[in-house]
Amino acid sequence: MDLDHRHLIYRPRRLRRNTNIRGLVRENHVTPNDLVMPVFITAGKNKKHKIPSMPGIYQWSLDKVGHHIADLMNAGITRVILFGIPSEKDATGSDAIDDDKGIIQQSIRFLRKHFPELYIITDICMCEYTDHGHCGIIHENDVHNDTTLTYLQKQVVSHARAGVDMVAPSGMMDGMVDAIRMALDENDFEQIPIMSYAVKYASAYYGPFREAAESAPQFGDRQAYQMDPANVREALKEAELDIAEGADILMVKPALAYLDVIARVREMTSLPIACYNVSGEYSMIKAAAAKGWIDGTKVMLETLTAMKRAGADIILTYFALEAAKYL
Ligand code: PBG
Ligand code: ZN
Repeated sequence: MDLDHRHLIYRPRRLRRNTNIRGLVRENHVTPNDLVMPVFITAGKNKKHKIPSMPGIYQWSLDKVGHHIADLMNAGITRVILFGIPSEKDATGSDAIDDDKGIIQQSIRFLRKHFPELYIITDICMCEYTDHGHCGIIHENDVHNDTTLTYLQKQVVSHARAGVDMVAPSGMMDGMVDAIRMALDENDFEQIPIMSYAVKYASAYYGPFREAAESAPQFGDRQAYQMDPANVREALKEAELDIAEGADILMVKPALAYLDVIARVREMTSLPIACYNVSGEYSMIKAAAAKGWIDGTKVMLETLTAMKRAGADIILTYFALEAAKYL
């Protein structure tokens, strides 16, 4: 052995030799505590509708969703975010603010009663309830920001009355966190946290969701309110604004193509960061796995771990139930 060479080689492979040592030095872990499962609830009875572009994900009617929620709870997935598909849509999304008949309000009351341990988050936006599919109220072919804010206020208060645990505004309206915080506080719901979709891009990765939620815009697109995928300084600005307006948790969405954005937002705040592993990210893995081109389980776990590594504390993901088996 040439002793002069000994110190020249650093040997990182020593810490990769077997499962034990790899586990000991692993930096990031995904646990069921990190995951939130999106659940689609549709009006009507006896429905478990397949969503063709999202294998394994369904639209559930309220009388059937209990089985799914029980499966989630048994797997340790005790947080859900609800999306509603109402029986009727109109220009102002009336179902979204209907205390009695609103699909989400009914769902919250039902789940609260039958699953007291479940943590219920709701998406706060108009696009699932409007016949035009935009995220707010339309004036002259544009989503009118401040009118929309008053509707979002009604929507959160209505969800709060039904018993929601947390609200997650997703419509990218300016001032939405401030408006929602004010409405909640004025109605004695100061304990309900806001997880803001603070940094939400105008992304083609939402394609399958729009089929799942039947919420595709009927004219135009969402580029006048969602962010340009090319921008990251703007993401920091959006994050700053939502922090100032009183958000409790900041979300970055989508996740996979925006890991750099997650990392940047992570550095600029001490608030918890969530990311949304969106529908298209799910569907791409499912499709490639179905073709036998990738190992779906491994790619799923690698992807979720990458989101943690980038700095997310919370991952909203359609993989939650499936991933829980391996965590
Ligand atoms: C509604 C909303 C969308 C998603 C979550 N909330 C769709 C959109 O903005 O078009 C996307 C979720 C996904 O793709 O999984 N504003
Ligand atoms: Zn929307």
